[in-house]
Amino acid sequence: MGNPIWDKKPLELLMREAGEEGEHTLKRALGPINLITLGIGAIIGAGIFVLTGQAAAQYAGPAIMLSYVVSGLGCAFAGLCYAEFASMIPIAGSAYTYGYATLGEIFAWVIGWDLILEYAFGAATVASGWSSTLVAFLQDYNINLPPQICDVPGAKWAMVDGRWGPESTFSVDQLARATQHATTTANFVAFFAIILVTTILIIGIKESANFNTTIVFVKLIAVIVFIIVAGMYVFGHPDIAHQNWAVYIPPNSGSFGTYGWSGILRAAGVVFFAYIGFDAVSTAAQEAKNPQKDMPIGILGSLFICTILYLLVSGLLTATVHYSRLNIGAPVSLAIRETGVKWGSYVVNAGALAGLSTVMLVMLLGQSRVFYSMAHDGLLWKWAGDVHPKFRTPWKSTAVTGFFVAVTGSLVPIGDLGQMVSIGTLMAFVIVCAGVWVMRRTRPDVRRPFRTPWVPFVPLMGILISLAMMLGLNGVTWIRLVVWLIIGMVIYFGYGIKHSRIRSAS
Ligand code: ALA
Repeated sequence: MGNPIWDKKPLELLMREAGEEGEHTLKRALGPINLITLGIGAIIGAGIFVLTGQAAAQYAGPAIMLSYVVSGLGCAFAGLCYAEFASMIPIAGSAYTYGYATLGEIFAWVIGWDLILEYAFGAATVASGWSSTLVAFLQDYNINLPPQICDVPGAKWAMVDGRWGPESTFSVDQLARATQHATTTANFVAFFAIILVTTILIIGIKESANFNTTIVFVKLIAVIVFIIVAGMYVFGHPDIAHQNWAVYIPPNSGSFGTYGWSGILRAAGVVFFAYIGFDAVSTAAQEAKNPQKDMPIGILGSLFICTILYLLVSGLLTATVHYSRLNIGAPVSLAIRETGVKWGSYVVNAGALAGLSTVMLVMLLGQSRVFYSMAHDGLLWKWAGDVHPKFRTPWKSTAVTGFFVAVTGSLVPIGDLGQMVSIGTLMAFVIVCAGVWVMRRTRPDVRRPFRTPWVPFVPLMGILISLAMMLGLNGVTWIRLVVWLIIGMVIYFGYGIKHSRIRSAS
């Protein structure tokens, strides 16, 4: 017998588990529309509303549209691979389960542990963005929240022209006009946002999906309003658009990543964050009514819709406002104010707030489903797989995850979290793409309701583009990734390896 850490979970066993029914299992309540909205719910958020403007200003200029094309291509290749797996092995663990079936237990563990970076840290990142968006949204109505509860401990805030904001977001002139200063205690707003979303998730998958669908609608309206208003403005003022786009790819400043083609690549790595989330659809596979058919629709449909919207928004944003002015907290809302349509800014802020809420919801949903699958396999403590008899949701793992995410989101600054989310997600993409290729060779016989086209070209491109984007992230992020994986190994060798169910069953 070989070393147990390389054991694979037999496909037949996975299929049996996917087909189980009863009160201890998750409830099959989601149709294709729910799955597409679940994807859009996780995708449209801080990336498009905040990062696009900042990346255009700092790295790519109007060519930010090309960054969206590069990043979108990487996601499309990975999305096609996710779709094959999700239809073939429709079980809640997503990349973790695919790794278990194809590459072996140790890889599965590494991916499961790595997905925490994407889902739990992703939700925490977005929670901090949500609190800044809420502050801006309420200020539109002249309501100021006490700054002490709106940022991580020790941040310095000031009141300028009747509005509280972090000191770092004001110019020197503005700060000279400050009437009050404050030091923040902890981001309780982010904390409560996560607790609220966690409660909805515990109450039920159908309730969560309905909440998600309603809110996705609000954020789609905001994005579409922006596209129509900015589009009319650009067509009505071709001279302004012409001026803003006069230099489409600003010449490189001399250092790698600041404008020019290398800037387009760096911006692609940054706006990749905007696409994260389509893969979260695959974690709901055990809650889909007809996963074989509907999983690919949910994953690829949501990715396709968001890609089109992103290309339009990023193009119109830089055509309306010169890219050099976009390095601010709410660039899309600035652009719509620039068109003279003042109500548009209220709609966009409301849409951003709604957008970020559903990102938190779907990320937390994904995290608890991955824990559920890992606990089911014996790699994590059994309680993490317990399903509530009435709500039919994995309530214990949802509650514990929600609590830790709420604490992280209220204490850790957003910048550090964001890069960890990207590196974690990209690593999962690499393993999923590799898994599709491996599986085609080792188990060509298995029925694949959806087949990734052009294997091995598509998986290979998915791997290469994801690796290239990982290499674009900074050294500190890599060190944190390694430390995170070492902690994971300690837990696996201390617990998981001894309790693995596939071994105790054999
Ligand atoms: N794609 C998600 C966002 O942009 C994570 O907020």
